Amino acid sequence: MNIKKIALASLATAGLIFLGCKAGQSYGENEIGLRKSTLFSEEVKVTKYDYNGKVAGESELIERAFENAPPMISHSVEDMLPITKENNSCTSCHLPEMAEAVGAISMPKSHFYDFRKKKDLKGQMDENRFNCVICHTTQVNAAPLVENKFAPDFRKENGNAKSNLLDVVNEGVN
Ligand code: HEC
Ligand code: HEC
Repeated sequence: MNIKKIALASLATAGLIFLGCKAGQSYGENEIGLRKSTLFSEEVKVTKYDYNGKVAGESELIERAFENAPPMISHSVEDMLPITKENNSCTSCHLPEMAEAVGAISMPKSHFYDFRKKKDLKGQMDENRFNCVICHTTQVNAAPLVENKFAPDFRKENGNAKSNLLDVVNEGVN
C-alpha cells in the first residue's frame, strides 16, 4: 500500500467511526414522548381542559378536517355516554325523521347502506354505525402538542360543512 492509499483508508475509517457515533446518539427518557416527562411513570401532569362543550342545540359546528371526514361532535355528550344496546341517545336526535324535528343534522345516506353487501338498507340504519363515538368524537379546548400544518382542499364549496360519501365513494373505481 502506498502512502496515498493508507491516507485514504484511514480517512474512510475515521468517517465510519464518526458516523457510528452519530447513530449511537441517545435520548433521555424525558425526551422521547410528547408529554416531556419520564415514560416510566404514569403520574403525568395534565393541563386543565374543558371537555363539555355547549349543550346540543346551542353549539357551533366544527369545520370538517377534510372532505368527507367524520364531523366532530360540536356539543357536550354529558349523560349520553356510554352508548349501550338499550340506550343510544344519539339516534334519538340524529336519525333523519328526528333530526328535522329537533334541528339536528341528519345522519347521511352512507349510514343507511351496507358497504359489505353493497346494499341499500332502505332507511334502516346499518348496525355497524350504532356506536357513533367510534368515529365521531367530542373536542377539548387543549392546545395541540404539535402544530398541524395540514390544509385541506374541498372540491365542493360546502365540503367543509357537509358530507356526501355515498355519492362519491366509487369515484375513480372501475
Ligand atoms: C338532544 C338532541 C341531540 C342528541 C341527543 C345528540 N345530538 Fe348531536 N347534534 C344535535 C344538534 C342540534 C346539532 C347541531 C349543533 C347544535 O345545534 O348544537 C348536533 C351536532 C352533531 C354533530 C356535528 C355534525 C356536523 O355536521 O358537523 C355530530 C357529529 C353529532 N351531533 C353527533 C352526535 C353523537 C355521536 C351523539 C350521541 C353521543 C349526539 N350527537 C347526540 C343534537 C343532538
Ligand atoms: C364507521 C364510522 C362511523 C360511525 C360508526 C358513525 N359515523 Fe357518522 N359519519 C362518518 C363519516 C365518515 C361521515 C362523513 C362521510 C359520509 O359518510 O357522508 C359521517 C357523517 C355524519 C354526519 C354528517 C352528515 C352530513 O350531512 O354532513 C352526522 C350527523 C353523523 N355522521 C352522525 C352519526 C351518528 C348519530 C352515528 C351513530 C348512530 C354515526 N354517525 C356513526 C362515520 C361514522
